[in-house]
Amino acid sequence: MSNLHLVEHPLIAHKLTLLRDKTTGVKEFREAISELAMLLCYEATRDLPLKEVEVQTPMAVTRSRVISGKKLALVPILRAGIGMVDGILSLVPAAKVGHIGVYRDHETVLPVEYYCKLPEDIADREVIVLDPMLATGGTAVAAIRMIRERGVRHIKLMNIIAAPEGVRAMQEAFPDVEIYCAALDERLDENAYIIPGLGDAGDRLFGTK
Ligand code: URA
Repeated sequence: MSNLHLVEHPLIAHKLTLLRDKTTGVKEFREAISELAMLLCYEATRDLPLKEVEVQTPMAVTRSRVISGKKLALVPILRAGIGMVDGILSLVPAAKVGHIGVYRDHETVLPVEYYCKLPEDIADREVIVLDPMLATGGTAVAAIRMIRERGVRHIKLMNIIAAPEGVRAMQEAFPDVEIYCAALDERLDENAYIIPGLGDAGDRLFGTK
């Protein structure tokens, strides 16, 4: 699974356990999703280009580096992806944010697109698509297809938990899209929920069940 970056870190492992625990309440769940997104962002932005600038410290003039060129856009997939936005914006506050609405039809388990609002200059940006759960991959593939249609060349996908089925679907559809996630779980159940997973990420984020 060559384009899959399984990010390992004690903080990530700890916060992931909090998410998995069914007794974790909405507030703690929301905070852990946001913090995990921030930690994954650290890894997903490792290849951002830098340029040297001159800076005056209180002691001397020196050369130091700042991020150059590439501008970021975050595209959370509604609705659970929204929970990942704030954590990433705390590291890259200038990123623009688009939204894509794709839901999984409970009968067919197929993705249905219902909303797409992206920054006008998205084709000039590096895009990180956000969805806590990569289950069948149908939703991520549909969202990335919509973004590609706007001329975006550089896309990354960030998930908290992925299933092997979803990673395979992504690799078949978009072998060039790098996937960043905190865990690769065992499998999907008959309703396409990730096992062991964490349940329904949207419901747990927004307290709708
Ligand atoms: N979406 C979720 O929220 N949870 C899953 O396990 C799979 C898809």
